[in-house]
Amino acid sequence: MTRFWAVVPAAGVGRRMRHSMPKQYLALHGRPVIEHALETLVNHPRISGLVVVIGGEDSYWQDTAFAGHPRVQTVPGGPERADSVRNGLDHLSASAADTDWVLVHDAARPCLLPEDVDRLMDQLQADPVGGVLGQRVRDTMKRTDAGCRVTATIDRSGLWHAYTPQMFRLGLLRRALDKAARDGVAVTDEASAVERLGMQPQMVEGHSGNIKVTQPGDLTLAEFHLQQARNH
Ligand code: CTP
Ligand code: MG
Repeated sequence: MTRFWAVVPAAGVGRRMRHSMPKQYLALHGRPVIEHALETLVNHPRISGLVVVIGGEDSYWQDTAFAGHPRVQTVPGGPERADSVRNGLDHLSASAADTDWVLVHDAARPCLLPEDVDRLMDQLQADPVGGVLGQRVRDTMKRTDAGCRVTATIDRSGLWHAYTPQMFRLGLLRRALDKAARDGVAVTDEASAVERLGMQPQMVEGHSGNIKVTQPGDLTLAEFHLQQARNH
């Protein structure tokens, strides 16, 4: 039977957050952001195991709730997110088959709902390529020049925000990320590496609360979405 695994990149420093502590360790409802992100995956019955990718200088991980958890392994990260993910996938390939599915999920996305994980798995498990949780764009989209003057209005139909998890088969994803690295192309998500192979990942609509904590105000937003999920 094909299995599902998760790789959680958590080796960033959160520069845009402008806090001395990496954003994945900031407190959210009394627990570090990363614990919320991991909880949904660790407790998900269809996920066989997780690899968390940790920064070399990280002194916070060991004090979190899932350090030493039997379903959670850790590996050191790399300079860019894609390097960290590749380290996680390399490690996973010791226990997983190339045809197994891998869900790559940002440690900085604490509001992942189990039903979104199920929807991703259900919609993609027979798919030849794989895909990504996301949301359709709602606003009118503008492109601007360096001076913020509008150069074009972009047709928003067919435009999406790409979230995580992004789900691909282990062998394909390793091939895609290795090629991007070899070609010297910086990819900011898994799907774009797969797209470079000429494939078309599927977008799967998820809930809009699955935000990435990126800038200072985002913790308040994440708090709101977690509260909403609890009241649900
Ligand atoms: N990440 C990683 N290894 C890196 C860079 C990022 O594992 N070398 C992880 C982050 O920890 C985060 C996820 O990838 O969970 C998404 O990246 P991003 O939001 O860009 O986080 P940071 O790189 O930490 O933030 P910033 O870009 O503001 O510095
Ligand atoms: Mg970054």
